[in-house]
Amino acid sequence: MKEILSPDFKVGILGGGQLGKMLGLAAANWHLPLYFLDDSRSFPAGGIAEAFVEGSFKNYEDVLAFGADKDVISIEIEHVNTEALVTLQAQGVTVHPHPEALNLIKDKGLQKLFYQKHHLPSAPFELFENEAAVRQAVQEGKWTFPFVQKSRTAGYDGKGVAIIRNEQDLVEKLLPGSCLLEECIELQKELAVIVARNAAGEIAAFPTVEMDFNPDANLVEFLICPARIDPDIEAAAVELAKRCIETFGICGLLAVELFLTPDNQLLINEVAPRPHNSGHHTIDSCYTSQFEQHLRGILNLPLGSTAMKCPSVMVNLLGADGYSGPTRYVGLEDCLALPGVKLHFYGKSTTKPFRKMGHATVLAESIEEAVRIAKLVQERLSIQSF
Ligand SMILES: Nc1ncnc2c1ncn2[C@@H]1O[C@H](COP(=O)(O)OP(=O)(O)OP(=O)(O)O)[C@@H](O)[C@H]1O
Ligand SMILES: [Mg+2]
Repeated sequence: MKEILSPDFKVGILGGGQLGKMLGLAAANWHLPLYFLDDSRSFPAGGIAEAFVEGSFKNYEDVLAFGADKDVISIEIEHVNTEALVTLQAQGVTVHPHPEALNLIKDKGLQKLFYQKHHLPSAPFELFENEAAVRQAVQEGKWTFPFVQKSRTAGYDGKGVAIIRNEQDLVEKLLPGSCLLEECIELQKELAVIVARNAAGEIAAFPTVEMDFNPDANLVEFLICPARIDPDIEAAAVELAKRCIETFGICGLLAVELFLTPDNQLLINEVAPRPHNSGHHTIDSCYTSQFEQHLRGILNLPLGSTAMKCPSVMVNLLGADGYSGPTRYVGLEDCLALPGVKLHFYGKSTTKPFRKMGHATVLAESIEEAVRIAKLVQERLSIQSF
């Protein structure tokens, strides 16, 4: 095994989007070069990569060729070719998260079966082959409105999720193909806990965050850390996330999205075995960022302190509605004039409505103050096109 940080030690990342870019920025602090595989070097990680290989992380040959000379391979997106990762592992490449976990997680149906098998709490569900089978189950009275339909493999950013409330939705909104139905859970809050593990078995969790959704885009709007919950719920959320990563046996990060019900029960919504949107604030507000922690996890280094430096609110900077084309940042100076605002742009050359173009983390002495300033960020900054 080559020594970490020795000149020929190579870490490869499948996916070159914004998560890859921020992973690369964290690695740069250690002068650890990262190599990326994705369709185009014009993607966010292209600008900071040691080397960027153009190819598809979904393609067996591309992943195999990319991984052959790497010591460690990790991901910034779970929809990668796992057969190639299995082959690479057999050739001696260290792969984190391990391909079996990736196979479970990238299929929401298998993910739900995993929770059931291991008695990890999540919403009651049933698997269906296609939308016709869903309609039949409703006709037979086996499922009643409202319920949630999720595509098993196609979803991200809320695109593979439909809430079916009535007969009309059943006609117009059902998603095609293999799916699962889930009971519609009444939500007191949506929470997320990002937890990390290394090969030595060390586990560390970041403070629980509270996710506030924009109902139009079905994307997280504000992400509040620490979550405004009782300490016993915080402790239970962290415990559940730790149990989750231990059960999956993953090295690196696992982001655990949770539902908090009105009677204070925690249910796992879904997990992601990589850096996550709900952990972006850690770059500015915690002792260790989620990106550095992921590197520590996959390289079997001691995990960093997850302690918070101060309260924060993260706001996703989405492409403004009505604009598509070359990216233009309107109101940048007004926004930078606000106290405690840390801007992160991903460098996407074109914008479109609700596309994640960057994020702002607002640091303040209290959550109330951070929320107030985050709203000003949203008012002042608009991502449009030329
Ligand atoms: N069973 C449920 N009951 C109530 N609301 C739900 C349920 N499942 C999902 N939702 C709502 O839909 C949102 C998106 O669901 P989910 O996280 O499964 O999809 P996703 O496409 O993977 O989303 P993302 O990529 O944004 O995390 C949830 O955050 C929640 O607001
Ligand atoms: Mg989700």
